[in-house]
Amino acid sequence: RLLIIDFGSQVTQLIARRLRELNVYCEIHPFQQVTDEFLDEFAPKAVIFSGGPASVIDEGSPRPPEKVFNLGVPILGICYGQQVMMHMLGGKVERGHGTAEFGRAYVTPPAERLPLLDGWFATPDGREQVWMSHGDHVSAIAPGFEVYGTSPYAPFAITADTDRNFFAVQFHPEVHHTPNGKTLYANFVKLAGFTGDWTMAAYRDEAIEKIREQVGDRQVICGLSGGVDSSVAAVLIHEAIGDQLTCVFVDHGLLRLGEAEEVTTMFRDHYNIPLIHADESDLFLGELEGVSDPEQKRKTIGRLFIDVFQKHANEIENAEFLAQGTLYPDVIESVSFSGGPSVTIKSHHNVGGLPEKMGLKLVEPLRELFKDEVRALGRELGLPQSFIGRHPFPGPGLAIRCPGEITKDKLDILRKADAVYIDQIRKHGLYDEIWQAFVAILPVRTVGVMGDGRTYDYACALRAVTSVDGMTADYYPFSHEFLGETATRIINEVKGINRVTYDITSKPPGTIEWE
Ligand code: XMP
Repeated sequence: RLLIIDFGSQVTQLIARRLRELNVYCEIHPFQQVTDEFLDEFAPKAVIFSGGPASVIDEGSPRPPEKVFNLGVPILGICYGQQVMMHMLGGKVERGHGTAEFGRAYVTPPAERLPLLDGWFATPDGREQVWMSHGDHVSAIAPGFEVYGTSPYAPFAITADTDRNFFAVQFHPEVHHTPNGKTLYANFVKLAGFTGDWTMAAYRDEAIEKIREQVGDRQVICGLSGGVDSSVAAVLIHEAIGDQLTCVFVDHGLLRLGEAEEVTTMFRDHYNIPLIHADESDLFLGELEGVSDPEQKRKTIGRLFIDVFQKHANEIENAEFLAQGTLYPDVIESVSFSGGPSVTIKSHHNVGGLPEKMGLKLVEPLRELFKDEVRALGRELGLPQSFIGRHPFPGPGLAIRCPGEITKDKLDILRKADAVYIDQIRKHGLYDEIWQAFVAILPVRTVGVMGDGRTYDYACALRAVTSVDGMTADYYPFSHEFLGETATRIINEVKGINRVTYDITSKPPGTIEWE
């Protein structure tokens, strides 16, 4: 396996991504964790130093242990990684002074061929586009190194010590703006002897081994939300330890039509996983009565969720572990060099401090995966595609799609309208193009006419957005025919709604949810 030492670059995760795309297994570890003992235990077949925000000239700036250079394995240093390598091996790094470089640059090829650059410089003008982002620069390379590529501002854009297989580049080969970066990584891993045989099936087997080792014969509990991450984590853990896993599914009465049945059937009947279905809808809806402030709703739901989960978890004898579907981006965000919240706070945030309170240890088998890899693992584990590809659904559920006061009546109407809308989207083959789609029921009633009679019913809003990560979003451009047909269906099929609107707000300035 390959070790990426993280010096805090914003794009370190992209290095991991590029390598996974090449079917090479790698792990990112922050430089603070990489000690001599760590290196012995990890036994990397190759090492990559990431970029980072620090300056090697500054005292106390991050370093890898000296030992890494004596492992006899190939090393690739990127940006800060290049500088730290030069600095530690006897070269010289200086501050910017007019040589800082940010953005697109072109590297001209070396006189001599370097296997790391096979497939490079095959462009019409013989140059290769790369992405630079550095303040400091290398002013003298370390003994044993040669220059294999220069750019106007970086005389040492690509350097290598071919005897030791140490490579150091000033630019970022992992980003999209270095179009041939993936080839460079492919060459590097080939040189290090990786055959590209790492697959999701291999990951699954390794993860199962690790879970067994960690848990032994003790009990694990897992809070199921019905979302993809916690479901994949639960199925994987169940494969590893069988009945030592119990899932708790807190049903707050704010789920979509058929959702509770879908989750419980899948886990109990299909996977045979012990599941406590905590139907607490009366408790939640009772406490939410009269609450119309969005923050108040969220806080109430969060508080009750933890109480209920804890109550049911306490019934499980000898539970020592709590399973969570923490993903890789959460882990990286929380341990990056530039500070930020500690690992613990971040990874616990979805159950708000429960592990400490209950004295539980964490099992997080998805810590090394990106969202799409979790989906791939889910497929590997046999979860149905219809489940894996589901749109995200917020923890507070329909409560935040029902502005104003929440009543059972309104929730029922909302559920039915939402089901018709999603059915329409699926029938038109649009579901996978859309990041998230749902109906919000509005706190107004309006007058209509149906048949010969007057109606006075609720209005609803359809929402559908495209997005990459939920941070920004754009409304989905449905055709007028689709919107017209959907409005007609909702009004005909759902008693209680007589007006349909379409929300065309992007995010920002709006948010995806209405509250
Ligand atoms: P907003 O409305 O902030 O939503 O644009 C961005 C994404 O996050 C989801 N969301 C939540 N997910 N708990 C969750 O698990 C929450 O409290 C929550 N609030 C919003 C939302 O559905 C969208 O995908």
